[in-house]
Amino acid sequence: MASVTFHDVEKAFGTVKAVDGVNFTITEGEFVCLLGPSGCGKTTTLRLIAGLEKATGGNIQIGDLDVTHLAAKDRDIGMVFQDYALYPHMTIGENIGYPLKVRNVPTDARATRIGEVAKNLQIDKLLERRPGEISGGQQQRTSVARAVVHEPQVFLFDEPLSNLDAKLRLEARSFLKHLQREVGVTAVYVTHDQAEAMALADRIAVMNEGRIVQMAPPLEVYHRPGTTFVANFLGSPPMNLLPGKVALDGEPRFVGEAFTIPMQSHVETAVRQHLSDGAQVTVGIRPEHLDLSQDPVSGGFQGPLYALETLGPESLVTLKVGDELLTVRIFSDDAPQLADTVHAAFDPEKLHVFRENGERIPVE
Ligand SMILES: Nc1ncnc2c1ncn2[C@@H]1O[C@H](COP(=O)(O)OP(=O)(O)O)[C@@H](O)[C@H]1O
Ligand SMILES: [Mg+2]
Repeated sequence: MASVTFHDVEKAFGTVKAVDGVNFTITEGEFVCLLGPSGCGKTTTLRLIAGLEKATGGNIQIGDLDVTHLAAKDRDIGMVFQDYALYPHMTIGENIGYPLKVRNVPTDARATRIGEVAKNLQIDKLLERRPGEISGGQQQRTSVARAVVHEPQVFLFDEPLSNLDAKLRLEARSFLKHLQREVGVTAVYVTHDQAEAMALADRIAVMNEGRIVQMAPPLEVYHRPGTTFVANFLGSPPMNLLPGKVALDGEPRFVGEAFTIPMQSHVETAVRQHLSDGAQVTVGIRPEHLDLSQDPVSGGFQGPLYALETLGPESLVTLKVGDELLTVRIFSDDAPQLADTVHAAFDPEKLHVFRENGERIPVE
């Protein structure tokens, strides 16, 4: 296994900068997820590592080797594509063994290694079949088997679970996590699914418009999102974000169209350091950090009920706060009893504050 380093890497397609000045080091054995909306440059980043695209700026290192100008075939990489890209005319065994064949591994050694990997991935009974004769989940495992068979230095995954149905996707996710524990190889995993990134990654790199907005362990990204973009991308449902203003005359507080939140003293200290009276901010609070209350809550939220969604182990209660919607996540398998006007309280420690340009104010 090896590390992967990007120095100011850029990839332009004509006037479109798919990757726009990306820097990172992925350490040996680390599992990094690239997370972001469609078109933000995730696949291009992966293809740059694989050598399937040529950087138009910066340089790329795998281990100690500068691979910026190295052909794909000379990079020691295993890749799992979104559509699996299995060879339809080959058997499952031949598909898995293909990377060994092109590396001139002798037939016997090849068969042994194919058997090992297939057994590990529980597809050893399918080796004689062709891709058209196995299920989507089995194709996915075949594709993983083909990527790992020659023990590459780096694994690359491009949304490998997105063609599976919901149940199979969860199974495959646990399986990949297990595989990572067993094999411990350096991996870069592309997804637009925040739950998948949270579940799998040692670190998540959140991407937007060709740039990495934040790169940190999952819980760091969840607890301390660096921008409103990140805050809005992680969590299900995502963080409630409400526009407001800083008021430092008298009791320090955040004032929105339909709420007033007093500042705790450590919040006030951070706000005074970074912002001035009257500054426009966005306050954020996650649905799971809000709770319903029978009575009005000072410093809380209130408004008419907008929607109640009961999901079984939890319910989502959405209320209207001025022109904004605020979602409360309740962990109970009973539907909450709601009046026409809903009151919501929150733990002030859980409040997030962002500048007008979306950057986090460090309030903790
Ligand atoms: N081969 C290409 N030619 C032209 N534009 C491309 C090509 N590949 C990607 N792009 C553009 O680069 C941007 C990033 O694409 P991509 O890396 O596929 O994003 P993601 O995988 O995050 O959805 C998009 O605007 C896309 O249209
Ligand atoms: Mg993509």
